[in-house]
Amino acid sequence: MKLKNCININDLREAAKTRAHKMVFDYIDGGADDEKTLARNSSAFDDYELLYRVLSGVNSPDLSTTLLGQKMDVPFILSPSAGNRLFHTEGEYGPAKAAEKIGTVYSLATLSSVSIEDIGTATNGPKWFQLYVWKDRGLVKEMLDRAKAAGFTAMFLTVDLPIAGNRERDLKNGFTIPPKIGPKQIWHALNAPHWTMDYLFSPAIRYANLSSASTAATLNDFVAAQLDAGFNWDDAEWLLGEWNGPTILKGVVRADDAIRAERVGFNAISISNHGGRQLDTSPAPISCLEPIREAVSDKTELIVDGGIRRGTDVLKAIAMGANAVSFARPYLYGLAAGGTEGAIKSVEIIRDAINRDMILLGAQKITDIDRSFIKSI
Ligand code: LAC
Repeated sequence: MKLKNCININDLREAAKTRAHKMVFDYIDGGADDEKTLARNSSAFDDYELLYRVLSGVNSPDLSTTLLGQKMDVPFILSPSAGNRLFHTEGEYGPAKAAEKIGTVYSLATLSSVSIEDIGTATNGPKWFQLYVWKDRGLVKEMLDRAKAAGFTAMFLTVDLPIAGNRERDLKNGFTIPPKIGPKQIWHALNAPHWTMDYLFSPAIRYANLSSASTAATLNDFVAAQLDAGFNWDDAEWLLGEWNGPTILKGVVRADDAIRAERVGFNAISISNHGGRQLDTSPAPISCLEPIREAVSDKTELIVDGGIRRGTDVLKAIAMGANAVSFARPYLYGLAAGGTEGAIKSVEIIRDAINRDMILLGAQKITDIDRSFIKSI
């Protein structure tokens, strides 16, 4: 499958599979254990149907909305994701430019392969910074200071990764960051000539926000060595003080955790199970949305991710109480398939689908999309 022939996100996935090295495609595409949650994240959207309204006269819907006071042209933002230069040499520049072009927020990951400063100056679009908590708290403070100085306006604190999940595709592929090239990797490299040429002729891939050069390690080993699995609610409160700006707690599936997040001072909650990459058999975020919406006050904004591939997925999440959605795999498939151009294509596909589906649904504005449009199966 070629990028120019792609008309939906699944096509981009096929194009990514064609172009990228197997270990790289599997790192994007894979989940934990038996990948039950990974599959369920998407299929759970089928538990709800859209009860469209007729004769509503909508022919040019307004897709814009706001999140944490940030105006956006579409009701989605780009989720953070690690090591994008593994997927394509343009790395994090691809999704950052896609977000700017479509008029939405780009979230840069702590474990990015382009630095905070380089992404800070790459676009004029709104940017948020995703944080993992290092054992070295000095490094945490340094990263937050750097993100603030580079113009990142909100902190996305991801808390569903005390350790890395059991991603068996990565284990089977011998996947490390940076990649270690042994016989298995060379064999697969022959099937991915474009990716391989880029890899060979581009600067070495590393965690760009760390000053020390990265030695090849599995994600599990890197996370166990560097990140703090013991990080708790008291530490989260400490971090809120350190950031002193808009904050989102990412990785919540329980209503009691959402209530606590609101109480300690997070402004928004990202209902997420890390794309099915962490605890397998955890529930699909869309199924956790309504209990959380009921549990927290209206001022706490909710972002839902997990399995979003179609405009209808976005509309269902908004109808059930999300302020916006987020996703990473769709733009990562685009990036792996064709760099910045592919990342842009992915967000345009989803934007155009939301536009079409709002007309079909009979909703002029995002705030018109309420629970009345949902029929649970
Ligand atoms: C992931 C981490 C690093 O691979 O966010 O899911």
